[in-house]
Amino acid sequence: MTNNPDSKELDSRYFMQAFKRNLKIVKGSGSYVWDDEGKKYLDCVAGIAVCSTGHCHPKVVEAICSQAKELIHVSNLYYVPNQGELAEKLVEISGLKGGRVFMANSGAEANEAALKLARIRTGRSKFISFKDGFHGRTCASLAVTHKPAIREPFGPLQPYCDFVDYGDLEALKELAGRDTAGIFVECIQGEAGVIPAPEGFLKGIREICDDTGALMITDEVQTGMGRTGSWFAYQNAGVNPDIVTIAKGIASGFPMGAIVAREGLSFNPGEHGSTFAGGPVACAAALATIGVIEEILPRIPEKSERFRNSLSALNPRVEGLMIGISAGEDKCPGVQQRCQEKGVLVNCAGHGNLRLVPPLTISDSEIDIAAEAINASFD
Ligand SMILES: Cc1ncc(COP(=O)(O)O)c(C=O)c1O
Repeated sequence: MTNNPDSKELDSRYFMQAFKRNLKIVKGSGSYVWDDEGKKYLDCVAGIAVCSTGHCHPKVVEAICSQAKELIHVSNLYYVPNQGELAEKLVEISGLKGGRVFMANSGAEANEAALKLARIRTGRSKFISFKDGFHGRTCASLAVTHKPAIREPFGPLQPYCDFVDYGDLEALKELAGRDTAGIFVECIQGEAGVIPAPEGFLKGIREICDDTGALMITDEVQTGMGRTGSWFAYQNAGVNPDIVTIAKGIASGFPMGAIVAREGLSFNPGEHGSTFAGGPVACAAALATIGVIEEILPRIPEKSERFRNSLSALNPRVEGLMIGISAGEDKCPGVQQRCQEKGVLVNCAGHGNLRLVPPLTISDSEIDIAAEAINASFD
């Protein structure tokens, strides 16, 4: 099916043209993908931080296949194989002792679950999030997503949300109050182009939440699951949120999302649900992914440093294996294209920032190959 020579034509005729595409990828292995003409690319996009263990990691493939042979789906009316095991693991790696998990199918759905949980448990309905932040495309996750061009055409949206400059604790203090249900924050803004939180910002949000009773919700959809060298980026700042939302890298590309909420914060029977979320195959893929990441996590700082050194001429922002380079709105697409021609995939995120979110399994020699192509593409 994927090799059907007419599938680009079929896409343009039958698929809603919501995406701009110029490449058909038909195969992946480790850090590499191949297009339909057999050209090989080093993949520093990795499904935008999704293929955390690389493409088709043998342990993940094995977990998916063996679970698929046993049981693909069972309703949440029954206990679901692998779900309890994964929930236990997520609580453990989140560091939220006594916490509980709810599962989802994507990042936006994980954020929907967090929004509902914050509303129902606080009894409040207002949220605050940050300019240039991104939290998803469903109506509620879009309501807390800043970018006016993607949000405003769909207004009015619920829940009510105010947007504050990322890093501006004074403005946040003024806005947050006893009617704030939650403050939604990315510890590093990903879609904006890898913009790390300023020093002390996350701690400041924690304090404001403690003072007002608003819940601190860290969206770790892009930054989580080892991407920054810790399981979650809030751990680098020494802060615990009330709720963390997770997706992308959790299951190496098998659709999955989740939230972990701190002790005492939970849905009651009937308050939330999903037919497919946390199914046996997704949970098997996530457990295998976590097993692989556990082994490679200690090496992320070293790999991160290698990227930092090899890209130093470009002043990169390097947070584990999440890298942003200011290229400029005009220049970024050209750099992306030249990298692609040299066999390295990177992408332009917001504000002309080139973004790299390679597999966490990327090797030293692959980092060198990527850096050489990127440096040359800026020349
Ligand atoms: C920080 C963040 N939150 C939420 C989302 C939405 O995730 P999904 O596309 O899986 O719904 C994304 C996707 O890019 C993201 O980067």
